[in-house]
Amino acid sequence: MLPSFARVAAPPDPILGLAEAFRNDPRPNKVNLSAGVFVDETGKTPLLATVIEAERRLAEGAATKLYRPIDGELAYRELVRELVLGKDHEAVVSGRALATQTPGGTGGLRVAADLLRQTGASETLWMSEPTWPNHPAMFQAAGFRVRTYPYTDPAGRRIDEEPMLAALGQASPGDIVLLHGACHNPTGVDPSPQLWRRIGDLVEERRLLPLVDLAYQGFGDGLREDAAGLMELVRPGAELLVSTSFSKTFSLYSERVGAMLLIARSAADASAAQSHVKAAIRVNYSNPPAHGADIVRTILGDAELRPRWEVELAGMRSRIKGNRRAVVAALEARRVPGDWSGIATQRGMFALLGLSTHQVAQLRDGHGVYVVGKGRINVAGFTSANLDPFADALAAVVAAGG
Ligand code: LMR
Repeated sequence: MLPSFARVAAPPDPILGLAEAFRNDPRPNKVNLSAGVFVDETGKTPLLATVIEAERRLAEGAATKLYRPIDGELAYRELVRELVLGKDHEAVVSGRALATQTPGGTGGLRVAADLLRQTGASETLWMSEPTWPNHPAMFQAAGFRVRTYPYTDPAGRRIDEEPMLAALGQASPGDIVLLHGACHNPTGVDPSPQLWRRIGDLVEERRLLPLVDLAYQGFGDGLREDAAGLMELVRPGAELLVSTSFSKTFSLYSERVGAMLLIARSAADASAAQSHVKAAIRVNYSNPPAHGADIVRTILGDAELRPRWEVELAGMRSRIKGNRRAVVAALEARRVPGDWSGIATQRGMFALLGLSTHQVAQLRDGHGVYVVGKGRINVAGFTSANLDPFADALAAVVAAGG
């Protein structure tokens, strides 16, 4: 018999639940700015040309659907490790960094969580307020006690550095600190290089364990640029975990491809920890799906495809930056009260409008505009067709107050 709790419907997912509601909305001029999905000027999420070419090559060479190693193919794992940390990084060269293929960045976070819980890490995990809505739910489900550190001011415009560092100063040695490597979700506001250094110092002094969510490497300022904060944490002998995703940067959303990197004190430590990673995966999804990782491996490992992909990535990045400027111009042209200028210089797919629950409901119910939480918008979702309707709707909702 199912438990009685199962007869009570769970609330819809705060992000993917909106996509469902959007699909069911019959209004023709509805605007979807909810899930972080890149669209081109026609409103479509593109299949990258390098992905099409990699799939063509894979189809030609297809021979088997045999199980893959629990932690993924070695070639994929090595290419991803180099992409995240850089080929010549001491942690790569020494072998104290090891990558594991995971089903997307969410899968990477869950593998990291299970690894930590199953090897006796601290039960306490600190995350920014605000953060991606799935973070608290996921780490609670994995058995962590979640605590928050302040991040931005309530409007989501600038980082409250001192309160943030003061809160993290309360963490106990061994506690896990979840950090967004670049393109903070939901605010788009990233730490300055100076703040990253201070975070690195604090983590080292208090012997905390960073877990870096790097789902958007290359969507901010560039592949290496977006790893600069992470580099501040990968100090000699430092231990940390990183989760990365190729959903956005390769436009491979439905393939569920990502990775979890563990960086240990030494190669021997890393290899021991990797055996626990494999044990954690085996009791979860057993071993990873192949296709998405094969695509990423084919592109990253090919001298012709890799630079072509980097150009495609730069194209997506520059479109998002253009959208950022366009949305600020649209809001300023309508004199929507508030300072929106920061949106133009924030990074990645998201910006936070700092709206009330009522205003978010007004946008959706009154205007067919779907945004997440306190007004997180997917800036990568704007086109010339939906920008003006969005700006008109926001102007009306802000003017109405509440
Ligand atoms: C988002 O934040 O919208 C994306 O990361 C998609 C997701 O899985 O929530």
